[in-house]
Amino acid sequence: MEGFWDIVLSKEVRAWGDTPSPAVAWLASHLPAPATVLVPGCGYGRNALGLARLGYRVVATDTSQAGLARARSAFADPAIEYLEQDAFGACGPVDAILAHYFLHLFLAAERSRLLTVWREALRPGGFIVLTALSTRCAFFGQGRELESGTWSNPGWIPIHFETPSALAAALEEQGFEAVHAEERLEPETKPTGQVDTASVYALARKRPMFEGAPR
Ligand SMILES: C[S@@+](CC[C@H](N)C(=O)[O-])C[C@H]1O[C@@H](n2cnc3c(N)ncnc32)[C@H](O)[C@@H]1O
Repeated sequence: MEGFWDIVLSKEVRAWGDTPSPAVAWLASHLPAPATVLVPGCGYGRNALGLARLGYRVVATDTSQAGLARARSAFADPAIEYLEQDAFGACGPVDAILAHYFLHLFLAAERSRLLTVWREALRPGGFIVLTALSTRCAFFGQGRELESGTWSNPGWIPIHFETPSALAAALEEQGFEAVHAEERLEPETKPTGQVDTASVYALARKRPMFEGAPR
C-alpha cells in the first residue's frame, strides 16, 4: 500500500485540496486548545496544519515519504511534528486523536488493533474523532466483498464502509465511550473538482478504566 500512497501523494495536484476536513473544527468544538493531538495517516498535512492554526500541538504520522516531504515543505508549522511512523506502532501519550479517512483502509482485525493502539495512546478522558466512507457513498459495493462491509473497490484500494451505529459499536468494544456518530457529507476538493462524499463521523472518549471485551 505504501507505493500506492507515494504515487497519490506526490501528484502535482493535491488529492484532497489544501483545506482541512470539517473534522478538524468538529474536534476543536469539543477540545480546548492548547492540547496535543495525534494525526495518524496525515498524508500531506492539511489537517495537521488546520489543527496547528487553531492552537493545538500536533504529532502527525504517516508511512509515505512523499506525503511527509510535501507536508514538511508546504504544510509546516512550528507546532507540528511530522514523523515517519507506522500507525500500528506504539505512540502517545496524547490528549486527542484525529484519524480522518484512515481506519476504513484496513480489514477488521487491523481496525481493531488500531483502536487498541489509539486507546493506549490517549490520556484518560481523551477524545478521538474518526471519519470513514459511508455505506451511502456512491462507490459502496463495488468489486468483491472481501469481508463484511469491505469492498475491493477496483481502481483504488479496498475500503471498509461504515454506518454510524457500526462505528460507534466498534469504539465501544475497544474501551471508548461513543459520544456521537452521524452521517455527514464531506466536502472534498479533488483533482476532478468539488464533491460531497457520504461519510460517517464519530466522536468518542477514552473510558478511564477498560478491562477488555467480555469473553
Ligand atoms: C486516504 S489518505 C488520508 C490522508 C489525510 N488523512 C487527509 O485526509 O488528507 C490515507 C493516508 O494513510 C497513510 N497510511 C497508510 N497506511 C499507513 C500506516 N500503516 N501507517 C501510517 N500511515 C499510513 C497513507 O500514506 C495516506 O497518507
